[in-house]
Amino acid sequence: MAENKKMSTAEILAAARAAKAAKTEPPAAVDVAPAADTPAAEAPKPAPSKPIAKPAPAAGGRPSVAEIMALARAKKEAEQGGGAAAPVEKPVPKPAPAKAPTLKADGDKPAAKSAAPKVLARDTASILAAARTGAKPGPVSKADAPTRPAPVAEVATVVKAPPAKLAAAPTLPSKPIKTVAKKGADAEADRRGFLEMVLGSFMATGFTALSMTGGLFGLGLARFMFPNVLAEPPSRFKVGFREGFPAGKVETKYVAQYGVWVVNSDVGGLQQIYALKTVCTHLGCTPNWLEAEQKFKCPCHGSGFYKDGVNFEGPAPRPLERYAIRISDDGQLEVDKGRTFHEEIGQWADPDSYITV
Ligand code: FES
Repeated sequence: MAENKKMSTAEILAAARAAKAAKTEPPAAVDVAPAADTPAAEAPKPAPSKPIAKPAPAAGGRPSVAEIMALARAKKEAEQGGGAAAPVEKPVPKPAPAKAPTLKADGDKPAAKSAAPKVLARDTASILAAARTGAKPGPVSKADAPTRPAPVAEVATVVKAPPAKLAAAPTLPSKPIKTVAKKGADAEADRRGFLEMVLGSFMATGFTALSMTGGLFGLGLARFMFPNVLAEPPSRFKVGFREGFPAGKVETKYVAQYGVWVVNSDVGGLQQIYALKTVCTHLGCTPNWLEAEQKFKCPCHGSGFYKDGVNFEGPAPRPLERYAIRISDDGQLEVDKGRTFHEEIGQWADPDSYITV
C-alpha cells in the first residue's frame, strides 16, 4: 500500500476509469494478479483468448487502486489482440522546474553576474577613492580635503579630467560680475523710481481732483444753506431833530440810503415837515431835486414836480407819495416807510403824513 501511494494522479484516474469499465463489462479471468509495482514485462503474458482473471480482492474485500490499474492494463492488452504486453511504463517524473538562482545572505549577485569581472561592479565609494588618488583633483568631501593623498597615475585614467572651461572658471575675475550686477541693480532702481513717480503723479492728480470736487461741493452746499438776502434798510429810521430842517429846505442826504426827501415847506398856508418818496409816478424812475428851479425833475421822461410833490409837467399822472413821519420819544423825526399817503385821494390831510413846525 505504501507503494501505491506513489502513483501519480494520471494513473489513479486511469485506474478509476478502468474500474468503471470493468463494472459495466466483466473482465476476463486472469491467472495471476500482478502486483502494483511489478512491471508488465515480468507478468505472465496473457493469451488473447484467455479470460482475464479477476484480481483477488484485498484483505478487506475491496481492490486497491494498484490492483484496479493492473486489471485495466490487462484488459487493454487483451483487447489489443493478445500480443506481447508492452512493458508498463513507469510514471516519468516531471522535471523539476528550474529554480531561480537564490541569492546568498551576503547579497551576492546571481552566479552569471558574479562571474563578470569585478571591475564593472564599481560603486561610488571606489570611484571616489580612485578619484582621490588620481592625478587630477576630483570630488572630495570637506572632511577628506586636508588628508588628500598624492595623485596616482594609474587612477588618473579612471577619472576624467574636468573640462578646460570648468577648470578655468574659478580664475575668472569677479569685477565684471560685480559691474554687471551693479548695472542690473541700477536699472531695477531706475525702473522702480519711474514707476513710483508715475504712481505718485496719478495719486496726486487724483487727490487734487478729489479735493477740488469736495471744495466745490462744500461751496454749493453753503450757498444752498445761506442764499443771498437783500439787506434792505429798516422801514423806520430817524433823520434828526426838526431844527435840522429849516423852512424851505429840501434835504437830499437820505435819498441814496432810504429813498426819501425830507422837506420843510409851506403847504396850503401851513408850514410842514414831510417825507416825500423818491419814485416817479410815471414809470418809477428817481427824479432829481433842482435847487435852482425849485422842482423835482424826472430824467426818464421829463416829468416835473413842485416842492410839495404835486406834478405839473411830463407824463407823470399824479403827485409824489408821502411816507408817515412822527416825532420819536427822543425828539428826533422818525420816518416810517411802511405807510404811504396819496394826495389824489386826500391822504395828505392825515396828520401822520406831516409834522407841523
Ligand atoms: Fe418819470 Fe417817466 S419815469 S417821467
